[in-house]
Formats: sequence, structure tokens, C-alpha cells
Amino acid sequence: METAFLPKSWPVDQILDDLDQHGFSIIDDAYPAEYIHALVEECMSNLNKFRDAAVQNGVISKIRSDHILWINDTLDVAQEHVQALEHLSEQFNRAFFSGIHEVEAHFACYNAGEFYALHKDNPQGKNGRVISAVYYLHEHWQADWGGELRLQDKNDVWHILEPKPNRIALFQSDLLHEVLEAKHQRLSITAWLRNDNAMW
Ligand code: OGA
Ligand code: MN
Repeated sequence: METAFLPKSWPVDQILDDLDQHGFSIIDDAYPAEYIHALVEECMSNLNKFRDAAVQNGVISKIRSDHILWINDTLDVAQEHVQALEHLSEQFNRAFFSGIHEVEAHFACYNAGEFYALHKDNPQGKNGRVISAVYYLHEHWQADWGGELRLQDKNDVWHILEPKPNRIALFQSDLLHEVLEAKHQRLSITAWLRNDNAMW
């Protein structure tokens, strides 16, 4: 993959228009097959390092049951995706003056029965998250495996988005959304495009 660039296939004008009109946008067929294989490999070989997302500072939350691994410099393949999102952020800054200058990201694994109940990634603008970007990296998905992203758009219309392989769902971080219970292992990278310095 041309790591240092925004993938040519990403329909930037359409993405900007969707975000402006609806507060969310979908990119399908985001990456070439070789990249997906490498990413799945990196994710699967690090699964033993994933931690309960519900446990934060020793406090257990009941709203989510997935497992996550924050992406740092040692996860080279995932870093390429983070870089692509950094390039996309430049387009957002140009179009919306959003002031994004940092992308934070983690892998997430939902095993069968796991979910993430209704929430906002940036309630009341209390953190610097501007746009959430969820990439689905499992190589197969069936419509009856659940695990949909249910999202209320900026015009209060609800959408049910299937976690299709090689899809990126982009949405304003202040929108209400949830991950419905998955019936099969569901792998993703959640990233946040931030206009502050991440403090996690
Ligand atoms: C999240 C989230 C949505 C998804 O990680 O905050 O809402 O479809 N993810 O995985
Ligand atoms: Mn979320």
C-alpha cells in the first residue's frame, strides 16, 4: 500500500458532502486485499494483549463488553491506517476548519454475545474527539451475525450499518450510537480524529 498517502479510491468530495449533510459517511472497499491480510495477521497475533474495554482505572462499566488494544508505534500495519486517517483529517480541516491534529486509535474485538450500548464518543463536547472512524477488518461477515452500528444522524434519522469487511464508518463524535450484540467475532479499529492532544 502507498502508506504515506490518502488511498486514491477514497471518495473525498462525497465524504465531505455526506458529513456536512448527514454527519456521517461510509467508505467501502477501503484497502487492497494484501493490506487487509497483513492487518488481520497483526490483529490476530496480538489478541492475547487485548483488555476488557469495560475496565477503566479499575472501574467496571456495564455499557460495553468488547476487548481493545490501543495502537502505538509497535503496530506497524495498523499505523498505516492511522496515517491514512491523518491525511483525511487534512481534508476535513480544509473543508470544515475542524482543527484536527491528532488521531488516536485502538483495535476492538467483539466476541459472540458482546456489544456496546447507546453512547456518544464526545458527549457535550467534553473531549477533543471531532470525528469517529470505525474500520471493519474481519475478512467475512454475514448479515445475520448482528454487530451492526446503529447511529442517529445529525438530522435525528436512525441508521443501521452492517460491519461489512473493508468498510469505514465515519461519523461526528457527538452523535448517539451503539454496537448491537455480535453473534460472531467482530474485529475493528476505532479511531478518533481530535482537535486537542489525546489524554487516554
Ligand atoms: C466505539 C464505537 C462502533 C463500531 O468504539 O466507540 O462506537 O461499529 N464503535 O464498532
Ligand atoms: Mn462509540
